[in-house]
Amino acid sequence: MASTEAARKGTSIMRKPIIAGNWKMNKTPSQTVKLVEEIKALVKNARCEVVVCPTQTCLFAAREALMGSNDISLGAQNMFFEEKGAFTGEVSYESLLELGVKYVILGHSERRQFFAETDETVNKKVLKAIEKKLIPIVCVGESLTQKQQGVTEEVVRMQTRIALSGVSAGSVEDVVIAYEPIWAIGTGMTATSSEANDTIRRIRGAVTEMYTPEAAQKVRILYGGSMNAGNARELLSTSDIDGGLIGGASLKSEDFAQIVGSLN
Ligand code: PGA
Repeated sequence: MASTEAARKGTSIMRKPIIAGNWKMNKTPSQTVKLVEEIKALVKNARCEVVVCPTQTCLFAAREALMGSNDISLGAQNMFFEEKGAFTGEVSYESLLELGVKYVILGHSERRQFFAETDETVNKKVLKAIEKKLIPIVCVGESLTQKQQGVTEEVVRMQTRIALSGVSAGSVEDVVIAYEPIWAIGTGMTATSSEANDTIRRIRGAVTEMYTPEAAQKVRILYGGSMNAGNARELLSTSDIDGGLIGGASLKSEDFAQIVGSLN
């Protein structure tokens, strides 16, 4: 397996791909159990890491439904950086850890847009997640206006640099980055594979500047934004896209399984 993936990426460094489902604010606990069970039945011996990220209130149900599966990991959609206290409505890393959560999505554009997340709060969360041994999936991406203004590279570089500020050289390879152009999220407008791959190479370039080329080669960078069963194979066959963060298509078990299968 190591050699196949190394060959796929054309490098001596192996980056195990990740397919993560971001369920957003969808599914009740009972519906979560049903979807997890369907996915469990369809996804076996995947050649990538498979992650499902239900809503916070459904994590317990998802964990119970995932029992006995070594194929699928649990992820959360957000986390606060303080341990506990007067932070009404927030979710602590301790709770996530106790629920068996392994990954946590941080700085999703919907959280930046609707819940006032900033590059600085994302950075605090990234540092705390690493300290607590949760794997952050840090989202970066430009808006349609920024794309039209031709500043995509500047935007993703800045978001990446701030998100990783203070992350040690020894820890950076455990961070996962998701490039999610905002104009492609939930719109059906996917970035072309070369467009997405090119921006991801620039994000990797920003990581290289902060660390070393070797460290940057180990960081997994996913693409997200209308990835689906029809376009996944092409996006995932590029040199630098190391998996997907899937929204809408992750709510349909067969589509999600097909995306996972496109890496086989
Ligand atoms: P989408 O969402 O696949 O529905 O575009 C991706 C995301 O927001 O993570």
